[in-house]
Amino acid sequence: MKNVLGYEGRKVVITGAASGMGAAAARLLVELGAEVHALDIGEVNAPVAKAIRTDMKNKASIDAALAQLPGEIYALFNCAGVPHPPFSAFDTMMINFVGLKYLTDALLPRIGKGGAIASIASTAGMGWKANLELVRKFLALEGFDAAEAWLKDAPELNADAYGFSKQCLIVYTMTMAGELARRDVRINCISPSPTATAFMDQLTQQVPADAIKLFCPSNGRFAEPAEMGEALVLLNSRLAGFVSGLNMPVDYGYSAEVAMGQRDNLMGI
Ligand SMILES: NC(=O)c1ccc[n+]([C@@H]2O[C@H](COP(=O)([O-])OP(=O)(O)OC[C@H]3O[C@@H](n4cnc5c(N)ncnc54)[C@H](O)[C@@H]3O)[C@@H](O)[C@H]2O)c1
Repeated sequence: MKNVLGYEGRKVVITGAASGMGAAAARLLVELGAEVHALDIGEVNAPVAKAIRTDMKNKASIDAALAQLPGEIYALFNCAGVPHPPFSAFDTMMINFVGLKYLTDALLPRIGKGGAIASIASTAGMGWKANLELVRKFLALEGFDAAEAWLKDAPELNADAYGFSKQCLIVYTMTMAGELARRDVRINCISPSPTATAFMDQLTQQVPADAIKLFCPSNGRFAEPAEMGEALVLLNSRLAGFVSGLNMPVDYGYSAEVAMGQRDNLMGI
């Protein structure tokens, strides 16, 4: 049962590794023996093999990172993300989805048989079904530049750019699962409930903490970043080797309670 998770000696790429859930996942991956290549706009303190300063809303910056990443990788962890507010609707969509998809699509040819991708979506994106037409329209745009141009002219997104970024991520994950299964590559995402990270510190300066607590599980607490990092590491591990196309709520039963009518469905899940 040694190396049961299968990361020993494996090359992995992770974004958002400077802080929060991504930092927790990066530390765990290093402990598990992976060769970790970390992309972040901030400084990465985890003892990774290589840290590359990357701005996920900037195509040239992602291209520069791609040029420094290994030719073959086992797994990709998409963790970088920002809240809206305080980030603008445009930047939120660019960082949380457009840059993420650009990086993922570019790395796909480098992910071999048995490899995997895991991203961080959100409970806030779980109402994707009601918005599927717009999400699909956005996903159909060809490439980074077309998505960027569309967003520059989409003022209606200001209302819920964060939710839309995570709806796009969940639908992208589910849409890619079949195609990737033909290549023996898995793709999943997690939807965390509110978690005590720098992201949450930024958000609670804009939105009252009591409003956010409405989305906490019935255990009454915010999750710790490690609890999300561990779920991500599990999903990309050998232990989840037949799991793909899943948006896994990591919310201690919050979305189950919503589905069972035991909690108000504030997110339209
Ligand atoms: N904290 C929560 O309650 C919560 C809930 C659901 C989903 N999420 C999602 O979890 C993910 C991780 O966030 P977190 O809560 O750990 O917050 P965090 O702020 O601690 O970590 C976010 C990371 O993304 C990096 N980042 C931000 N902008 C970037 C850019 N332009 N280019 C590259 N890297 C950039 C940051 O430097 C940081 O390392 C995000 O995608 C977020 O949307 C968070």
